[in-house]
Amino acid sequence: MSSQPKLCILLTRHEIEGTITRLAGELNRDYQGKHPILLGVLKGSFMFMADLIRRLDFPLEVDFIRLSSYGSGKESVGRIKVVQGLRTPVRGRDVLVVEDIVDTGLTIAFLLGYLRRKSPASLKLCALTDKPSRRQVPVTIDYLGFTVPDKFIVGYGIDWDEKFRYLPDIYALEGGE
Ligand code: IMP
Ligand code: MG
Repeated sequence: MSSQPKLCILLTRHEIEGTITRLAGELNRDYQGKHPILLGVLKGSFMFMADLIRRLDFPLEVDFIRLSSYGSGKESVGRIKVVQGLRTPVRGRDVLVVEDIVDTGLTIAFLLGYLRRKSPASLKLCALTDKPSRRQVPVTIDYLGFTVPDKFIVGYGIDWDEKFRYLPDIYALEGGE
């Protein structure tokens, strides 16, 4: 970036909180009597995952997976691999993937395919944000927080080149191209 990027507020912590309460309500209804594995996609989902789980009222297990899809730039390179794998066997289990953002869909399509081959009892996707304008492969998001415009977003766990993850609100990164 040649000039300093500008952060424009897109979703406040209060909006995020309200939406997570709504998502938790949907999950509490659908997973009652079940014992799923919540699988967070590192690193972007860590804050969302923690806030969401605090509002869930059924027993669950937690695991994380780390994929490489982006380099240090803003574009998905489309070559995805598992960098840090699953520790929990998922065969016959209800698996809920928790993701920060579905953009082109390449990352999550890869992960859902990878998990499906391990024969879980069910496989669902919960995503905090969706950027449908850039989709390259179809993705079904079972539990969606927000649809966001075609802008690069940061904050609330989501980074640009490892920066801005700590911010409690979500911002669009503008300028500095
Ligand atoms: P996809 O493969 O293009 O769908 O990209 C998915 C991953 O890229 C997400 O899980 C994010 O980690 C990252 N990503 C996509 N869009 C953004 C963004 O606007 N800000 C930060 N990270 C993003
Ligand atoms: Mg991610």
